[in-house]
Amino acid sequence: MSSTSDEVARVHALEAHDAQLAAIVRAVKLAVISVDETQTIVLFNPEAEAVFRCGAAQALGGPLDRFIPAAARVAHRQYLANFDGRPGKRGARSMGGDRILTGLRADGKEFPIDASIISTEVAGRKWYTVILRDVTERVRDRQQLQFLSNIVESSSQAILSRDREGTIMSWNEAAAHIFGYTQKEAVGQNIRMLFSNEASRDYTGLAERAMRGEPVVNFETRRQRKDGTLIDVEVTISPIKHDDGSVVGTSAIYSDITERKRMEAQMHKLINDQRQAEAQVRESRDRLRELSAALQIIREEEKTRIARELHDELGQALTALKMDAAAIASDLDPAQEAPLKRTAAMKQLIDATVASVRRISADLRPVMLDNLGLVPTLEWLTRQFSDRTGIRVDLDIPDENLGVSGDAATAIFRIVQEALTNVARHSGADEVGIEVRRQGGNVVTRIRDNGKGFSEPDTRKARSFGLLGMRERAYVLGGDMKISSLAQKGTQIEAVIPAFGTVQGRGS
Ligand SMILES: Nc1ncnc2c1ncn2[C@@H]1O[C@H](COP(=O)(O)OP(=O)(O)O)[C@@H](O)[C@H]1O
Ligand SMILES: [Mg+2]
Repeated sequence: MSSTSDEVARVHALEAHDAQLAAIVRAVKLAVISVDETQTIVLFNPEAEAVFRCGAAQALGGPLDRFIPAAARVAHRQYLANFDGRPGKRGARSMGGDRILTGLRADGKEFPIDASIISTEVAGRKWYTVILRDVTERVRDRQQLQFLSNIVESSSQAILSRDREGTIMSWNEAAAHIFGYTQKEAVGQNIRMLFSNEASRDYTGLAERAMRGEPVVNFETRRQRKDGTLIDVEVTISPIKHDDGSVVGTSAIYSDITERKRMEAQMHKLINDQRQAEAQVRESRDRLRELSAALQIIREEEKTRIARELHDELGQALTALKMDAAAIASDLDPAQEAPLKRTAAMKQLIDATVASVRRISADLRPVMLDNLGLVPTLEWLTRQFSDRTGIRVDLDIPDENLGVSGDAATAIFRIVQEALTNVARHSGADEVGIEVRRQGGNVVTRIRDNGKGFSEPDTRKARSFGLLGMRERAYVLGGDMKISSLAQKGTQIEAVIPAFGTVQGRGS
């Protein structure tokens, strides 16, 4: 009786237990499939339906094989045949070890699964229950992670991460290469080991800035290697955030910019050297120019003095001589033929000498330049030139009142004089046009011939100082000179000179 009621109670308890188990199997988020010894499916829970896209009605009574990819079926049978049914540590034995197994859905798609198996024996018959999970997402995440880590590892830039306290969490190959610490040595250390030894005085707080949300992009700074040497780096730092948005650390990408820095320094040095060299060249050129200006002044003053002395003193002495000779002649008796002839010859010689002195003096520097001015002097010069060479000169000075300073007049006169000398000496021209006109504050002088012209290199002849001298005369007055010459087309010299220009450096 009591045994019967005990029996009934036990049966009730068992039924309750079974019902509870069945409810769990239905609700659990794991696919649960049981098969008998013939691999025929006897249990197929709702999660199994979802995972395999197959209703329990279709699955039950069918072979398990339909959920196993063809390639794995033999192995699976083998596995079950050898399975001793003893559970592993967690009660069930995981299938495939660490390998990811593959399931086959009703729609023919294969997918990765993580499965465990339990075998039970009831009344001498073996049952196997496979508990499994679709791990497509986990596999994908793991692949993605692998992918990212491959990128990080193969990067030529040092990529590392640290937590809020500065403890290094990750450290790639390039970081090992650039900073000299292996991954093992670096991970777990504090990031401050990369800052200069002297009490981390190079610490720049970049990571703290990044954690506060300030961008730290391509920041140039220095870090210390394991061997103590400093290295120029460029760093970009980003905060690492938790899902909830809280910042848990930073990741940093470092580029070694030693080489770039070296190149930059070299470049700066080169540029500096060049600037210095240029400044030196400029200075020595200015010096030369000053010297040439000073020499020109001295020569001009010397010529002026000699010309004046020749003209005035010698001229006066000759005039006195001529008057004396005339006085002697008038005192002589007309019968004294010989002395009369002598004095006549003397007067002639004196006249010729006066003419010579005038010419020499004028060649040195026409006194009329100072006495009468530029325009009459140019007229005289060109007339003389034509007479001597037979080359026709057309002198065009539209406004006689040029209003030039003494220095400007001297420069223009000398330029015209040298240009005419060149025409006679080199051009083979038979016509020269000279034009002098005021243009604003400048006097523009053009000397154009119809000769054979010359090409640029000729002006660089070792001893050709004529054109150079003309140009210098223009320069020292703050003016400029241009030469344009075409073979067979003649030559034109154009000098632009400030009308009131004065030569700097007089008396120095
Ligand atoms: N008007 C010109 N026609 C042709 N060639 C010229 C003329 N002026 C200058 N040159 C050429 O330019 C060169 C340089 O002239 P220049 O400096 O005055 O030196 P130099 O007269 O002592 O040779 C001359 O040797 C000549 O070849
Ligand atoms: Mg010359």
